[in-house]
Amino acid sequence: MDASDLGSDLERVLLTEEQLLTRLDEMAAKIDVDYAGKNVLLVGVLKGALMVMADLSRALHIDVETDWMAVSSYGSGTKSSGVVRILKDLDRDVTDRHVLVVEDIIDSGLTLSWLIANLRARGAASVEVCTMLRKPEAAKVEVDVRYVGFDIPNEFVVGYGLDHAERYRNLRVVGTLAHHVYGS
Ligand code: PRP
Repeated sequence: MDASDLGSDLERVLLTEEQLLTRLDEMAAKIDVDYAGKNVLLVGVLKGALMVMADLSRALHIDVETDWMAVSSYGSGTKSSGVVRILKDLDRDVTDRHVLVVEDIIDSGLTLSWLIANLRARGAASVEVCTMLRKPEAAKVEVDVRYVGFDIPNEFVVGYGLDHAERYRNLRVVGTLAHHVYGS
């Protein structure tokens, strides 16, 4: 889905497909160097990380294994509780593996902070993070993130894996939605 397919539902394009893919190539080049010769497990966090995982993993030249986790905040309430429940766990054992968590966005940082602690507790040799987007103004906890695509303003964004009520994940760009889409 292109930006033009959304018509007036799309308010503004923040990042074009070209910008996203160029940045991913740059991040992949760093990861290639940093993880050369290492036993790497890419862990994608469903569902938002789908696109980043697909493009980043293909941009890499090093050999990696991939796995997925699905997590959710406890209850259906706010994510800011920081209490996370595992909906789908890894299929692989992370013991002594160099784990690189792949995320679409870091908002409050609470999900990731929990996830990093969880993976370290399982005996991973190292746990680092690669995220396409980060909202510095929304941070509630400090998370040490090794690879960041873009820092963006604290606005609700969709596209490139990010959804609004499960829609727009297949949008090629990252953008903001017009107010009428939210029904307000
Ligand atoms: C998003 C994103 C991160 C999390 C970031 O997932 O993929 O996992 O929120 O938020 P935080 O930094 O405030 O913890 P979401 O729960 O929207 O699920 P999804 O990936 O299935 O869309």
